Amino acid sequence: MSKSAQPKPATCPFTGAGEPPRFPFPRDRQFTLPPEYAAAREGCPVAPVTLWNGQRAWLLTKYADYTAVLVDERFSGEFARDDFPTVTEARRSIDKLEKSFVGMDNPRHDHFRRMLTKEFTTKRMLALKPAVERLTDELLDAMEKAGPPADLVAMLAVELPALVMCDLIGSPYEDHTYIMKLAAGRHGMGQSPEVAAKSANDLVQYCRELIARKEAAPADDMVSRVIQEQVLTDRLTREDLANMLSMVLRAGHDTTTNMIGLGTLLLLRHPEELAKLKADPALVEPAVEELLRFLSPVQFAPRRVALRDVEVNGSTIRQGDGVFAVSASANRDPAEFADPERLDITRDASHHLAFGYGIHRCLGQGLARIELQVVFSKLFQRFPNLAVAEPFESLPFKYDSQIYGLYRLPVTW
Ligand code: HEM
Repeated sequence: MSKSAQPKPATCPFTGAGEPPRFPFPRDRQFTLPPEYAAAREGCPVAPVTLWNGQRAWLLTKYADYTAVLVDERFSGEFARDDFPTVTEARRSIDKLEKSFVGMDNPRHDHFRRMLTKEFTTKRMLALKPAVERLTDELLDAMEKAGPPADLVAMLAVELPALVMCDLIGSPYEDHTYIMKLAAGRHGMGQSPEVAAKSANDLVQYCRELIARKEAAPADDMVSRVIQEQVLTDRLTREDLANMLSMVLRAGHDTTTNMIGLGTLLLLRHPEELAKLKADPALVEPAVEELLRFLSPVQFAPRRVALRDVEVNGSTIRQGDGVFAVSASANRDPAEFADPERLDITRDASHHLAFGYGIHRCLGQGLARIELQVVFSKLFQRFPNLAVAEPFESLPFKYDSQIYGLYRLPVTW
């Protein structure tokens, strides 16, 4: 047994002879989480696991431990550290390329994040709402025109966030397919390190060129404003801005895409909840929070590494051990959410952890909420008889991806 493994109660399924189980756990049951999470919550909430490279890591499976560790400065979120935990070799190589604040500790993290917070205020996000509504209408028009059956993932879920990101950063809409391809190019679990790194590099290069264009011809958009306020006043280099932008593009795309696909399917699988939403459109706000709680599509982040030995809820996490805060598990912790396995769009789930917690909590959550609220309002108004066009068991879930979702969702109406 390695020095990190501590004796645990007999009910803990993660300890005993041999090394702790390999993480990630296989996920092959649509909306059901790997059973290991519930077992860990009950028997050993801070559960030891082994990563692909033999590194020891710990899973935070309960809400209270998740929120405590993510504000504890004895844990680092520096992606560049050699002991920073990853679930694949490809992910390790792209972590090493990450030069934006998502992979930094304070004070550097806050220094850079503050340069963008003005661009993500509620006021700015609400200013984008008319564009989100228009783009959603246009995509639904195209779907209606093409006629059933249609792939909702390709025609709506992938397109909308990419087009909205163009509005946010001030890129021409024609670029959205290219941005989308690069942003998605690094999330597959089977992705080779070379392909993942090339996608990451190409996206930064796209951002460098965008910055040059906006510097030459400023407009009323986020990139132009940050150039004026931070770059031309020598607070931020062009290279640091390119790295930040590329991270925002990646963060804002695949996550929202997968929430649209999964969220639509989940509502269709719960007709009683969908009926409530159709009867009372104001329920869309709590419904989106509940979908985020239930689905928690970011599977293997937030991550941290222990800077010293730390005791967390009965387990000793040793210096250099990795930590995965498992949002999907913490969001189904019965100590925090009553009857957590039940989808209930009327509950107040707004304190869920699908957007992370602590200094790295999602910067774009306001925009994500607007996109999801607009989509789930308009989609079921436009197609009140929307239904899945293929058997549920045959739908291709992204069992192999860092962000959980659907490759395709064939629908009819
Ligand atoms: C439903 C959609 C989304 C989900 C589930 C989601 C989830 C998350 C999570 C879990 C984190 C924390 C990562 C960590 O601690 O390692 C995060 C960070 C972040 N997200 Fe999102 N996100 C979504 C949409 C967006 C959008 C639309 C944007 C931008 C327009 C965005 C921008 C960011 C940024 C910039 C960070 C890094 C924050 C920091 O490190 O300070 N996200 N997101």
